[in-house]
Amino acid sequence: MCGIVGYIGYRDAYPIVIKGLHRLEYRGYDSAGIALLDKDLKVYKKAGKVSALEDFVKDLPLTSTVGMGHTRWATHGAPSDRNSHPHSSGDRKLTIIHNGIIENYANIKETLLAKGHVFKSDTDTEVLIHLIEDIKTQTGLDLQEAVRVALNKVVGAYAIVIMSADEPDMIIAARKGSPLVIGVGEGEYFVASDATPIVEYTKNVVYLNDNEIAYIHRNELLVKNIDNTVQTPYIQELDLKLEALEKGGYDHFMLKEIYEQPRSIRDCLRGRIYPQQGKVQLGGIKEYVEKLKNVDRIIIVACGTSWHAGLVGEYLIEEYARVPVEVEYASEFRYRNPIITEKDLVIAISQSGETADTMAAIELAKEKGATIFGICNVVGASIPRITHAGVYTHAGPEIGVASTKAFTAQVTVLTLIAFYIGQKRGAIKQSTLIEYLTQLDEIPTLVEQALKSNDRVKEIAEKFKNSNNCLFLGRGSSFPVALEGALKLKEISYIHAEGYPAAEMKHGPIALIDEDMPVIFIATKHSSYEKVISNIQEVKARGGQVAAIVTQGDTTVKDMADYIIEIPEVNEAFVPLVSTIPLQLLAYHIAVMRGCNVDQPRNLAKSVTVE
Ligand code: F6R
Repeated sequence: MCGIVGYIGYRDAYPIVIKGLHRLEYRGYDSAGIALLDKDLKVYKKAGKVSALEDFVKDLPLTSTVGMGHTRWATHGAPSDRNSHPHSSGDRKLTIIHNGIIENYANIKETLLAKGHVFKSDTDTEVLIHLIEDIKTQTGLDLQEAVRVALNKVVGAYAIVIMSADEPDMIIAARKGSPLVIGVGEGEYFVASDATPIVEYTKNVVYLNDNEIAYIHRNELLVKNIDNTVQTPYIQELDLKLEALEKGGYDHFMLKEIYEQPRSIRDCLRGRIYPQQGKVQLGGIKEYVEKLKNVDRIIIVACGTSWHAGLVGEYLIEEYARVPVEVEYASEFRYRNPIITEKDLVIAISQSGETADTMAAIELAKEKGATIFGICNVVGASIPRITHAGVYTHAGPEIGVASTKAFTAQVTVLTLIAFYIGQKRGAIKQSTLIEYLTQLDEIPTLVEQALKSNDRVKEIAEKFKNSNNCLFLGRGSSFPVALEGALKLKEISYIHAEGYPAAEMKHGPIALIDEDMPVIFIATKHSSYEKVISNIQEVKARGGQVAAIVTQGDTTVKDMADYIIEIPEVNEAFVPLVSTIPLQLLAYHIAVMRGCNVDQPRNLAKSVTVE
């Protein structure tokens, strides 16, 4: 949450910073601000999108080769001009941008208020820059030391960048719990919450570790940890293409990402399955084969869409690897003293690799001795760095706030893990595995076919676009798909939607059904097909409008549902990968028809780095 970007070098900083903010806007978009250093510090900030800030500064002289910017997702203090970052010290000589939360800010603020500090905002961040100023003036320490001492006093999470009018040739960046990447150029450095603002200038990056502070000059990067010991920064090459960050002709990132799924699933499978040999290869976890052979419980922790992927994983792992699985909301798991032992395997799923609750759940499980695997999309993010082993999803950057291609890639990885463990434990026959892997190899093509339902889905969206409520129902592994369909619809179109196991409908939700209630069924021809048909009848008998996702050629459901969407025939194991596609499209079209901001839905942000 919140995007931060900084630059020091020989180029004009403003265009780099503002473009960087546009790239990071998915992280938060309620207000934005910049600071430039031209003799003295110039700070401009505005509530609203980055474009509002751009309009605000468009006629101002903005020359500077040092600058930074922030796009905010409010935690402390409502979105407003004055709560926007950067925040400055009382003497206006220091300014800071921050992503994270300073948990003990109230205590620090009280002490500073007693000393006469005057605050202009309601934020925790302003307290931190005043604390640095206070330490500097009270102790005579230089800025570097004052920042270090101040950071030792704060509790919470931060990624910060600081500029000083007295030190025009340096920016300071630091992280604890919130991500920060430094781009290394020739005579220039970039700092950002992720690599997207950096990739067009340099491919060489340093991922700052927790408790590290970087003192960045045009020709020098000095990294120390918070105890003042010098660290050797590890420079790595980015594997990120600029095209992946553009809309590429689509109206929205979300639509582009939905259409990318044949490619992203293919990338996720590449080099990992050998259908003819019946072999799954997962380099990231191969050291743990013995553990996997003997594991007697797997706990999956995640949030939101990633949690839905985890629920699909539960079905797959229990079915094909025959290991009991529990799926937990990371936010609940971390606060309820869960029973975990060294025998357990915990799988943490996260697109961003930065979700605060998921990270806290990992730390807790680690303390209790469990082995932790990560399933992440963003390479180099925090979660892959704190887990013992893991598997990247390789879906490419997901910019639309509503997760789409990351979900199908997560499910793909979980399918591979289920088969991998199943094979190692002898729970799945080799001939069966060959059969499954052969079809898994075909999934990108089947997803391509499912995307052809777009026009049909659009017609159905037209019918449902004015609804106030919507139910999504499925059984087995289609239940988490129903949950995911409901989440997609509610988060981007603001229609209230619920996902339920189809059989649960009669235990309550059936009371909601009337002629205004659209009910979306996942009714493919698999194990619970007949049961789902009965549930469809129950809805029809009460006047509900039924749209059903069915296996191509199905005539039974066609005769009873108001609308059907056909998807290609697929083995039951892979239904979630294909049936999710029309649900993503349905949410997308309804949101567009309702005039909603699809890529940046209200109140949301892509990386939830606060608990
Ligand atoms: C919904 C969505 C969120 C995320 C959740 C977890 O479309 O994107 O529900 O799935 O915030 O985020 P990650 O996967 O980054 O941990």
